[in-house]
Amino acid sequence: MSKRIRHHVNPLSMSYLDFEISPPELSGHFTEVEIGCAEGEFLFERYGDCPDHQVIGLEIRRSLVDEINDKSRNFGLKGISAVFCNVNTHMTELFPAGSVDRFFVNFPDPWFKKDHHKRRIVSPALVADLISCLRSGGEIFFQSDIFDLAMDAMAVFEENGPPQIRNVSGEWSFMKENPFKTMSRRERFVTEEGLRVWRMLYRLSC
Ligand SMILES: C[S@@+](CC[C@H](N)C(=O)[O-])C[C@H]1O[C@@H](n2cnc3c(N)ncnc32)[C@H](O)[C@@H]1O
Repeated sequence: MSKRIRHHVNPLSMSYLDFEISPPELSGHFTEVEIGCAEGEFLFERYGDCPDHQVIGLEIRRSLVDEINDKSRNFGLKGISAVFCNVNTHMTELFPAGSVDRFFVNFPDPWFKKDHHKRRIVSPALVADLISCLRSGGEIFFQSDIFDLAMDAMAVFEENGPPQIRNVSGEWSFMKENPFKTMSRRERFVTEEGLRVWRMLYRLSC
């Protein structure tokens, strides 16, 4: 019988707020972390593009995390792993201060309804947590095809990021292109559909 995988979970439900996590072992390589990695397509492609990086996915759906870790173990891909966690409560338990080179926030869940906005990933608390986990010169890349969601996320970054992190394209500005070669599953889909993607890159001051 096939396993049922939930498409959306409520990150504010008690069962997703209070559970034990296993922080990833950091190898000392350039460390990239995808927030909300789903099935992990981006992780495997990113590692293919940058085999000297350590690539870590964070995901709130445990069955997907298990599948990613099984796949990377079976293929002997030591640089790829996924961690079952809620990024809004566990971030600073996962990574020591100053240990991550780049976070990717690729196409987070939109949670369209107004009273569901509080479930969105990008919050002032998350921005503070990401800043504390970043290495000097480290980066946070965000992208979404939903303009309102991207604008709301930009407001959170612009109002809570500086002076530690700054928008590489200038305050309150989106990037024209994705500066990274690797595409996430959602990015590939929306690109093929010809939809616009809203992107920003923030960098920690050295
Ligand atoms: C729309 S999918 C995007 C998948 C992938 N990043 C892409 O671009 O194709 C968002 C993912 O974030 C996960 N997610 C949502 N809230 C989360 C949270 N608080 N902590 C960890 N993962 C979360 C969801 O389970 C889902 O797999």
